[in-house]
Amino acid sequence: MAKVVHIKTFGCQMNERDSEIMGQLLSQNGYVYSDMPEAADLILVNTCSIRDKAEQKVYSLLGQLRELKEKNRHFRQIRIGVCGCVAQQEGRKIIERMPHVDLVLGTQQLYQLPALLDQLEKGELHHKVALDLDANFAIPPFQQLLRETPTQKSSAVARPVQRYVNIMQGCNNFCSYCVVPYTRGREISRPLADILEEVELLVAQGVREITLLGQNVNSYGKTNRVADQAITFPDLLRAVALVQGLKRLRFTTSHPKDLDRGLIRCFAELEVLCPHFHLPVQSGSNQVLARMNRGYSAEEYLAKVEELRRMRPDIALATDFIVGFPGESEQDFVATIQLLQDVRFHSSFSFKYSDRPQARSTGFADKIAEDIKSERLARLQQKQTEISLAWNIMLMHKKVEILVEHISAQTGRGRSAANQVVHFQLQPGRSMPAVGDITHVLIEHAGPHSLRGIAQ
Ligand code: 5AD
Ligand code: SF4
Repeated sequence: MAKVVHIKTFGCQMNERDSEIMGQLLSQNGYVYSDMPEAADLILVNTCSIRDKAEQKVYSLLGQLRELKEKNRHFRQIRIGVCGCVAQQEGRKIIERMPHVDLVLGTQQLYQLPALLDQLEKGELHHKVALDLDANFAIPPFQQLLRETPTQKSSAVARPVQRYVNIMQGCNNFCSYCVVPYTRGREISRPLADILEEVELLVAQGVREITLLGQNVNSYGKTNRVADQAITFPDLLRAVALVQGLKRLRFTTSHPKDLDRGLIRCFAELEVLCPHFHLPVQSGSNQVLARMNRGYSAEEYLAKVEELRRMRPDIALATDFIVGFPGESEQDFVATIQLLQDVRFHSSFSFKYSDRPQARSTGFADKIAEDIKSERLARLQQKQTEISLAWNIMLMHKKVEILVEHISAQTGRGRSAANQVVHFQLQPGRSMPAVGDITHVLIEHAGPHSLRGIAQ
């Protein structure tokens, strides 16, 4: 009988894609996927350690899984694997703290999963901890998984015409607050031919929107392992944009210090590239930015925003903020609010600063009290909600083009090119568009996080 795997994913889109790859690898090795952990023979927890809250969630889930494993002990063996950033960071400590865990898999090791499981099955190993993180690692080709694997249930089901494609992994920036360079290792780019083949296969399978993923996409090709060509990120975008049948292209994440004219020009020149750009600023205070080791000032950031808007006036900008970074004064925080008001981001993710293992700022002395962080976060989020709502209200009584992602009997959901979620109903007499269609919706209601209207 086929074995059943369940994968729980925490964290970023990179992790979502890694979970998908692991699911595809396993389905080639005789596993079927289930949404229910209770039904699984193998439960993988793909973890995130970017902020302390993310990490706490992982440990609390692992605690619950101990009970599940224990309850089933006399009927069947459930194996539990931990992978992703917490696995890389904590390694063997996870097994010391959670002895019911069978497998700990570092961020470069996911391709070894079937082989390691095999060793566990054969009883060659009791536990396995695989953590190698090598600057010379070559990302193996995995696009063929798409050819050989039946579509597996995953987050992709929620947005069946949208997919993520890795273009690189790792980070060389060492922002002082960040754990990623330690959990994901050095920047490594994936060969252009592999990326193109994967995009082509996905589009042939009906995918209409691709998001290219990397921790710092502007460095694509500048660092290790493209080896055979000198390809830049704008070159890559131009090549992917040519894939026939692709309707929308996005990418994430871009570092403001490396954002150059070549990339900005792509927004003006490539029709499939969505006018939506996630450009994390983190703070509006130059003093804080310097201590974060971000490599740009607020003025330099604003100048790039201006140039982006000159090239692509309808571009929707999104960002990340950290509030309560060590030493952040009220004046520093006010500078962040000022920058938010100056740029008028369409949306943002904002977080309270938290200490991370190995990150340099963990050693900074001037930590900010929790209640001050909470109060600043609330002020920032309140301001962002007002601005997001104002942007969305501007679309009232206008027609917005959407890519349809979900339909039910009389209603549907899609996304605008600017990445707004749009719910729609049908105009009487009009037939329901199909998932993957581009259609237009006349907006009748605007909230801060979504729009609603009538499909035309
Ligand atoms: N504390 C709080 N937020 C953080 N982020 C990264 N590291 C930390 C930290 N130590 C946020 C940044 C980043 C996003 C992915 O997570 O805003 O852009
Ligand atoms: Fe979390 Fe960063 Fe790891 Fe993604 S790369 S899972 S955001 S720590």
